[in-house]
Amino acid sequence: MTTTAPSLPQNHPLVSGLTAEAPLLNQYRGGRSASGEPAAPRRRPVWFMRQAGRSLPEYRRLREGTTMLDACLNPEMAAEITCQPVRRHDVDAAIFFSDIVIPLRLAGVEVEIQPGVGPVLRSPVRTAADVAALPEIDEVAFAPITEAVQRTVEQLGSTPLIGFAGAPFTLAAYMVEGRPSRDHLGPRTMMHADPETWNALAGWAARASGAFMRAQLQAGASAAQLFDSWAGSLGREDYQAHVLPHSAAALDHVAGLGAPLVHFGTGTSEILDLMRTAGADVVGIDYRLSLQEATRRLGPQTPLQGNIDPAYLTADWPVLERHVRKVIDDGAQAAGHVLNLGHGVPPETDPQVLTRVVELIHSIDPAPAAEAAAGQPGAGGAGTGQAGAGPSAAEGA
Ligand code: CP3
Repeated sequence: MTTTAPSLPQNHPLVSGLTAEAPLLNQYRGGRSASGEPAAPRRRPVWFMRQAGRSLPEYRRLREGTTMLDACLNPEMAAEITCQPVRRHDVDAAIFFSDIVIPLRLAGVEVEIQPGVGPVLRSPVRTAADVAALPEIDEVAFAPITEAVQRTVEQLGSTPLIGFAGAPFTLAAYMVEGRPSRDHLGPRTMMHADPETWNALAGWAARASGAFMRAQLQAGASAAQLFDSWAGSLGREDYQAHVLPHSAAALDHVAGLGAPLVHFGTGTSEILDLMRTAGADVVGIDYRLSLQEATRRLGPQTPLQGNIDPAYLTADWPVLERHVRKVIDDGAQAAGHVLNLGHGVPPETDPQVLTRVVELIHSIDPAPAAEAAAGQPGAGGAGTGQAGAGPSAAEGA
């Protein structure tokens, strides 16, 4: 089942060439340029999930007096918040400031983000009738998203913007429960007790998320990430039978555009190989599994993203530095590797620590990882002295 995806417009930064050879995108393509030739890495790319938002004082000042979802739907504000962490940290990508429930709001579902709680729906979606009553999303409703993305990419120049959406399970989990939950019992019960209603709901969510990603990519995003934050609550059989086809359908909305796609979840170590088959190019790894083990499970051809443990961000610098170097070493066997956290930036993170982590990552020669991925024996890593890498000159710098 392939949706015919219209190609990107001529003035899109990937098509005009502005972002086409960005280090981030080369790593997402497994160390290859847009033409498919091996690309010598110029710098080691890094960005952080939830880099835009609460840890930045400039964000808190700007957001004062505006609700989360109103901020997302204000194109000027969303563009400014998206660019803040790029200016401050010199990260290799911007992640679009928005939320996974924005397509719900744009479809007319009454939802808000309660501070410190998360998404809350006025009426949870629990029965066949509830699902049948969901309004189908009209592409025209994405106008504020299109405008925010256009304003953002104008400011970003050659730094790629990453668009995103929630995967159908994660989105449906909020819709069925009506609010954040621990075990996601509601959606997990529905997929067994009433599979028809579950498939209708997850199918709706896949269309909403697929359209949300497509709107961002068409307007100027150079890559997209599907967040299945709660997929870790599923066993393999449930994931494969009731969730994977819907995630694949969401990704199918943006297949064939030439923009790399990333698939990320948390607690998903046991279903990584299944997630790999959903159609994304890159798999995001949370902090629970070493990247070496991820490569063993996914094969060396799969580019990886991750997996600095956010818990280290408040540790003493030498402890954090050692951890970052080990993550780089562990990722060296994969065809491509983009540094990121294993889950989002905790709100209390000191932004200066993030800037320092970016500086460290950029100071480490990006070439050895590529050599190691190409299978050259003895290729040095980032100098942890672990994973077979000899201590490098950069150690302790
Ligand atoms: O910097 C970025 O990553 C870009 C923007 C972004 C937000 N949410 C902004 C946001 C992205 C990519 C998301 C995705 C998202 N939203 C996910 C998947 C990623 C993940 O973290 O697992 C999920 C599950 C949501 C739903 C959601 N929205 C939650 C659980 C929360 C946190 C509630 C809280 O306050 O603790 C939100 C709110 C939210 N989304 C904030 C931001 C910056 C905080 C709002 C604020 O500043 O008041």
